[in-house]
Amino acid sequence: MKYNMTLTPEEEAILNGSQGETMAKVMKTLVLYGDAFGATKMVPVNSEKGHLVTSFGLKVMKPVYSLMDQLIEGGALSKQKFSVDPKPLDPNVPANFLQKVIFNKFMYSMQDSYDKQLAEMGLLDDKSYTCTCYMDEVGNIPNKNEVLSWAESSAVVYANSVLGARCNRNSGIIELFGSIVGKVPYFGLLTDEGRKATWIVEVKTTKKPEAQILGSAIGMKVMEDVPFVKGLDKWIGTELDGDTKAYLKDFGAATASNGAVGLYHIENLTPEAVEMGENLIAENAQVYVIDDAELERVQANYPVMWKDKEATPKLCFVGCPHLSHAQLIEWTDNVAEGLKKNGLKKVSIPTVFTAAPGVIEEFEKTPYAAKLKETGVVLSYICPLMYMNNPLCKSMPVITNSNKLRTYTTSRYYRSDEILDIITKEAK
Ligand code: F3S
Repeated sequence: MKYNMTLTPEEEAILNGSQGETMAKVMKTLVLYGDAFGATKMVPVNSEKGHLVTSFGLKVMKPVYSLMDQLIEGGALSKQKFSVDPKPLDPNVPANFLQKVIFNKFMYSMQDSYDKQLAEMGLLDDKSYTCTCYMDEVGNIPNKNEVLSWAESSAVVYANSVLGARCNRNSGIIELFGSIVGKVPYFGLLTDEGRKATWIVEVKTTKKPEAQILGSAIGMKVMEDVPFVKGLDKWIGTELDGDTKAYLKDFGAATASNGAVGLYHIENLTPEAVEMGENLIAENAQVYVIDDAELERVQANYPVMWKDKEATPKLCFVGCPHLSHAQLIEWTDNVAEGLKKNGLKKVSIPTVFTAAPGVIEEFEKTPYAAKLKETGVVLSYICPLMYMNNPLCKSMPVITNSNKLRTYTTSRYYRSDEILDIITKEAK
């Protein structure tokens, strides 16, 4: 096989079958992938744990299951234990009879067997199904400068930007191949050059910008480029504490889904920006100014995909990406207070909060769990996007404060304060 990048003798030997035919094919795919992006060499994946994006046993994904079988049979297992994106199903989440039939019998009928394959491949444990694997309660937290082989866009942008790890926006399966060989092609966000900002974003708002709208605005403007954000530290501080990390989680997921951002720098806050300041900005970087009017313009332009734009929402999702422990507590307090203010006992729209299994477990130990239950909100570990990924949900009026969910489904976006207002007031 012909390739352009430089391989070590060991890598070349793997390519030539020294570790078996399956491993050779996996290596070949990585080399072709690297060549396509102009990679110069392979570098070791040196994070302790991996993360996979494909978590769902969707019936139509037969090639994935037979590939997993081939890898397992060929002994090409992941060199690192990994977490994986959230599961698509949870019996606690409201679904009507027809939806249940469609989910279990048709769509996700391969879930159990795929879960088994994941376990054989190297899944950490049963609780490791979440896109926020970097939460303390989950424990897959890469260190600065570690090279990762991940693909979940919201986790990649978080790991690169907030933790200072190094990871490209890989596709599903490619990320698994990197974890199997223990190497990834060296290009893009793994390089110092690729981490330089080609956009300067100046935040000039008169109040703290909604994370999900700010991220959306930046993502749509810079697409896959790296932005250096100035003026945001005024609103979210210069400490990477729990609140700030949760803000950046939501902000980053919106940059990554409304655009294709894999890394951002926040002046005086994120690790590389603190270390290198404006030296991170590439020559001739473009400038994007964001003020209140720009954020309003961005929100007003989100298309509403509902057939009946005046419909009463049938379901509300909060927690895409999964909520942190502190966010869960804040939402619980806010919902309880809102209901009390409006003289209601339960939320007026069926509402699901989603979080990592480990975060839920810790939350259940606090008095807030009972408080949340009383409001009627369901707490679940699912991925709302997987839940909505079917024809029945397409025609269902769903609301969310997630810009990622809005982008990939027919759900309608509202800011968090608007969501709170809708679910704690008498339905229309
Ligand atoms: Fe996570 Fe699913 Fe949203 S993977 S970011 S909850 S689409």
